[in-house]
Amino acid sequence: MENVPCFKPGKIWPDNKGKHISAHGGGILFHKGIYYWYGEDNSEGYLNNVGVSCYSSTDLYNWKHEGTVLKQEDMPEELQGENNGRIERPKVIYNAKTNKFVMWMHAERSGYAFSSAGVAISDSPVGPFEFLFYDRPVLFEPEEGFDEHTNEKELGNSFRDMHLFVDNMDSYGDGVNDAYVFYSSEGNLTMYIVRLNADYTWIDLTDNSARIRPQCTKEQLGDVWSRQFIRKMREAPTPFKYQDKYYLITSACTGWKPNPAEYAIADSVLGEYVTLGDPCEGDQEGTTFYSQSTYVIPIDEENGKFIYIGDRWTPDELGKSPYVWLPLTIDDNGKVTIKWYDEWSLTDLK
Ligand code: DGJ
Repeated sequence: MENVPCFKPGKIWPDNKGKHISAHGGGILFHKGIYYWYGEDNSEGYLNNVGVSCYSSTDLYNWKHEGTVLKQEDMPEELQGENNGRIERPKVIYNAKTNKFVMWMHAERSGYAFSSAGVAISDSPVGPFEFLFYDRPVLFEPEEGFDEHTNEKELGNSFRDMHLFVDNMDSYGDGVNDAYVFYSSEGNLTMYIVRLNADYTWIDLTDNSARIRPQCTKEQLGDVWSRQFIRKMREAPTPFKYQDKYYLITSACTGWKPNPAEYAIADSVLGEYVTLGDPCEGDQEGTTFYSQSTYVIPIDEENGKFIYIGDRWTPDELGKSPYVWLPLTIDDNGKVTIKWYDEWSLTDLK
């Protein structure tokens, strides 16, 4: 079976130059027949975050390195030098109205107290992306109080593991599909889902006059914001949609160590999400096959066929962390299954 392309979960994955792909915590954008894979460039190690890398592919097996599309050195001063600035879990979506590629990221420094959203835009999927600003979308006091480590009271609720999701709906009829940001907040205790504005460059405030970027309260956000998995400590939000239902894979919160994933289903994108359990079949050790979720790619959406993507973190050599790409299927009852294969190809996605 030599030369037949296949996925090899957990193995080193060379790009077109023979170098292991470094696009961790990544996301895939499918645009005009090409897949773009964006992620953390950890190739120089944890403390030398290079920025956001991009790879392109037409077949999902072979990836061409398109370079660093947002460089760490182009991030604001607060994220330079001894602050050990890091960009984590970047995701890129395309806005059909502005014709811009919009990147959101978890902007961080060592100590994990910076915990803010960063937003960047580009005219091209392969950059360069221009960094716009960082901030925290929501300011809401939970019953148990604000997280002190991240100074939530002053700065707004913390913004860590994140994902962007574009729905196949245009509920405002403004020519732009609805998009949402999912992120771990309240010091990772609770997950937030917030609708984005028409440009996708910040959250959608119900009051149009406020479409700049103020932090806002629960009342201002109204029906465009929700809190999910309250005080359940879920990370690595990975949303996708199947037959009008919203699916959300998350991990537990154990640093770089793997733990069992869970998936949840909701009738509306903002929830309520009902947790249904671990989607991994035959995962004896309860480690999501030694990975942490980061993206689900629709392959044959109508028939419930997707690819699960997770990172197999190797914290001592973060840049060498392999990826775990596995078939994800959904049956007629909405049950999600991820199974292990040492090697597999798209034809196995049955
Ligand atoms: C788990 C998160 O999911 C990762 O993105 C990263 O932030 C690590 N924690 C850091 O410990």
